Amino acid sequence: MTDTPTPRPLPWREPTLLAPLEGVGHAVLRELVAAQGGLGMVCMEFLRIGRAPVHPPSLLNRIVRTAGLPLSVQLLGNHPGRLIEAAAVVAQSGAEVVDINLGCPVRRVVSKGAGAALLRDPDGLGALLCQVRSGVDGLLSAKIRTGFEDSSGVEAIGDAVASANLDFVTVHGRSRAQQYAGVADWRLIRQLKQQLSIPIVGNGDCWYAADVLRMERETGCDAVMVGRPALRNPWIFSQAAALRAGRPPTAPGGNDVLSYLERAAAAYGEMSPDRPRLVTGRLKELVRYLGRAVPDDGAFIHEALRTPDTSALLQVAARRVAPRCAEELDLGAEGHLGLERSGSVQLNPDP
Ligand SMILES: Cc1cc2nc3c(=O)[nH]c(=O)nc-3n(C[C@H](O)[C@H](O)[C@H](O)COP(=O)(O)O)c2cc1C
Repeated sequence: MTDTPTPRPLPWREPTLLAPLEGVGHAVLRELVAAQGGLGMVCMEFLRIGRAPVHPPSLLNRIVRTAGLPLSVQLLGNHPGRLIEAAAVVAQSGAEVVDINLGCPVRRVVSKGAGAALLRDPDGLGALLCQVRSGVDGLLSAKIRTGFEDSSGVEAIGDAVASANLDFVTVHGRSRAQQYAGVADWRLIRQLKQQLSIPIVGNGDCWYAADVLRMERETGCDAVMVGRPALRNPWIFSQAAALRAGRPPTAPGGNDVLSYLERAAAAYGEMSPDRPRLVTGRLKELVRYLGRAVPDDGAFIHEALRTPDTSALLQVAARRVAPRCAEELDLGAEGHLGLERSGSVQLNPDP
């Protein structure tokens, strides 16, 4: 038997992490979310690593740190040598963690044998991860789904991950086939926590700050990663930190949502001063999530998505959202309006 290596200190400040969100969670958004406080680590969306040699300057260009926070950079690919080359560039950037994407469900990724496709062959997966591990000195993690067609092979996937001595693993409690349907199955997060000796980051459907603490309690996970709920409620990290510390969590009202949108408009405007339509498009992306917390049968989202420019969009927010007090928005730490369906180990997520 080989000796178990001594675990290395984990990089996050608070055990609540921002999930990788390709196409939405770019650097500006990460700064905006981080500015609300309570965030423990930023996880960047995937960087595709193909079979061609890695070009360090272009990779370095894409790695953007959020001030004052540890950074995990995710790599998507299946060529061990290229992943190792890319990991060296990530280390050069100063990022704290290299993460391997084992969950991307998109067909054009899966058809090339990357992302969630790697879950189909746990032995091959274990071999790939061992090879990458042997070439990466720093913290190395993987982000998995619980299976490809279904979650029946989750134990073997856990064994594959364990065989590679990763520093931790993030578990999104859905199979690839589930995409984003239903509710994440926290029972599988608990199962992997019991099976593996490395730290587990739980992920999936923590829509309210109270869910973050509940996922920790119910699954025993070492940290919680939050994705879409942070787009819907950027205060969720500060609320979770407050609940953890026994402090009253912030209760954002309509004016807070409006001022968040105004800051987003200013930041996107600064990033792309000559592309006002792009700025409006980015804001509309945000509205699709933020608007889910407004209990108005989608009226705010509907109207905002039809505005011609940023100024008109902000006017809609000023009229439809700003007048609402905290009780009239589903942004409370405990989910007092309960518009979203959160995960639980008690739920049977099958339809
Ligand atoms: C728009 C979008 C982009 C995503 N991009 C990535 C990605 O680049 N890498 C990854 O591992 N997961 C990605 N995910 C999955 C999320 O990180 C997360 O695992 C999933 O949304 C479940 O967590 P949540 O319920 O907290 O959102 C993405 C999800 C969404 C909705």
